[in-house]
Amino acid sequence: MSHDVATPFAPVTLADGRHARDAWPLDPDIVHLNHGSFGAVPSEVVRAQEELRALADLSPVSWFPRVAERVAQAREEVAPFVGASADDLVFVPNASAAATVVYNALRLRPGDEVVVTDHGYGAVSMGARRLARRFGADLRTVRIPLSATDDEVVDCFREQLTDRARLVVVDQITSPTARLLPTERIAHVARERGARVLVDGAHGPGLVPDAARGTGGDWWFGNLHKWPCAPRGSAVLVTSASDRDDLWPLIDSWAADDPYPTRFDTQGTLDATSYIAAPRAIEFVEREYGWSRAREAMRAAADEGARAIAAAMQPYVSDEALHASPSPVPSMRLVRLPDGLGRAREDADELRMRLLDLTGIEAAFTSFAGVGYLRLSVHLYTEARDFEAFIDHAIPQIVRLAGERRPAH
Ligand SMILES: Cc1ncc(COP(=O)(O)O)c(C=O)c1O
Repeated sequence: MSHDVATPFAPVTLADGRHARDAWPLDPDIVHLNHGSFGAVPSEVVRAQEELRALADLSPVSWFPRVAERVAQAREEVAPFVGASADDLVFVPNASAAATVVYNALRLRPGDEVVVTDHGYGAVSMGARRLARRFGADLRTVRIPLSATDDEVVDCFREQLTDRARLVVVDQITSPTARLLPTERIAHVARERGARVLVDGAHGPGLVPDAARGTGGDWWFGNLHKWPCAPRGSAVLVTSASDRDDLWPLIDSWAADDPYPTRFDTQGTLDATSYIAAPRAIEFVEREYGWSRAREAMRAAADEGARAIAAAMQPYVSDEALHASPSPVPSMRLVRLPDGLGRAREDADELRMRLLDLTGIEAAFTSFAGVGYLRLSVHLYTEARDFEAFIDHAIPQIVRLAGERRPAH
């Protein structure tokens, strides 16, 4: 039985006439509904990075001494895309690295508080806990209900932040719950309490226009290998803080005596081709479709897919299947899983691999407040048939697995 997704969206056609799907080297035998976790790199961008690597292999001595110049050039090209100045922006391998760079620069006192939220990305929150532990400080977790409006989110910070807060780590777009947070207003509350603010914008670039601008953070970082579709291992950290010369790249190298940002351009004999090729990905989407149109296309596809999948899931879940986010992002939606599935992050991660093995469908599952969700992701290459495949093949397996989890009466 095949389910029709009553879809207003036909496959996205690029400027060169191809269906978007044909511009990505994704396995046609796999259904790709999890762009949000690891991104997906268009073939043209894969080739651009391969060509750079070939240059390095042809003549290492021509390549490596000029890498810093090329990285600086890539900073100039990428900065306008995130609404930043190239002088405020550095490349780092990934969002996790950016958080580590900032954590490494901070000095706290016993009794100070490092603050995260219960919507935060686990690994970034673990880094925050380690930072607190190093100085005998405490970790506080601000709790935000799943369906809180932006005003209510700000109230959560007003009520739960103390004057001991020194650092607040807050997501621009949350990972388990796929929502925008009002970071500028949160930063205002944090500053009133004497805390500095690190904005985790891992999902920002590509989804939020000028993502680094107006976030209210002392530091902001974002991944280029997620929504902008750059090669993996490309992220940016942006700051104009007066003490930014306290930030050091994770690898001590020959530019250590330079100030921020150029000290980050040299990282020993690192393969920096992911940074240097990143602007090609941004240009690819702009040239072939346009970024603002892309966000609209993603929004339409995500709404349609989530509606259809939630309708098919509804008979098996105990509450509303489609989560109506108070502050949705263009490309991701939550659909509730049957009771018993994805109660904790580890279960959700396990379901991701089980489902891939059973059905050849890539999807992300998350867990929030003991409830499991499908975190549906779409990008330009997503087509209605991907949602149909999920409904026809993934949902029956999900229902079966949920049945196995439920205790027999
Ligand atoms: C909100 C958030 N922060 C940080 C990260 C870490 O990104 P990376 O694995 O590229 O370091 C992710 C990854 O999904 C994320 O969603």
